[in-house]
Amino acid sequence: MTATIVTGLAPILVFLWPAHSKGQKKTSVTVALDKPIDQLANGEATKFAAPTTPNTAFVMADGGGDNGAGELAFGGFAVRDTKGTAHVFAINCSHLGCPIALNSTAGSFDCPCHGSRFHLDGTVLHGPAAFPLSDLSWTQGDTPNTIVVDGLELGF
Ligand code: FES
Repeated sequence: MTATIVTGLAPILVFLWPAHSKGQKKTSVTVALDKPIDQLANGEATKFAAPTTPNTAFVMADGGGDNGAGELAFGGFAVRDTKGTAHVFAINCSHLGCPIALNSTAGSFDCPCHGSRFHLDGTVLHGPAAFPLSDLSWTQGDTPNTIVVDGLELGF
């Protein structure tokens, strides 16, 4: 009976928790920001990239469309929205994954590929994107200008 249960559950468990590719391991990625996140003014954002020595990527915590929990991102934005809440987002547009850019004049994140726009809290301002930006899981680093983001060390 135990063998039957294990045999039946194994494919489901592999689907739910797929093994990372060989050469990848979970890690906490320390990122140096241009400005400490607690010093960002409301409506201000700063862009960052995944460190390349060693090669790393961030792991999206949630999302929809072309972004989803477990998908990789190689950059992001730390932002304080207009209400003063801090967010750390993957840089990828939720439509088809193009990197978004900060539009500091309009106070939005804009995608150059098909015109999607997002509020600074990550919610959709204008389609075709139908889902908000993906959050990255993060904590404050040891120094004011660093954050530590859930990610992967890539073995190539
Ligand atoms: S990838 Fe951003 S609007 Fe299409």
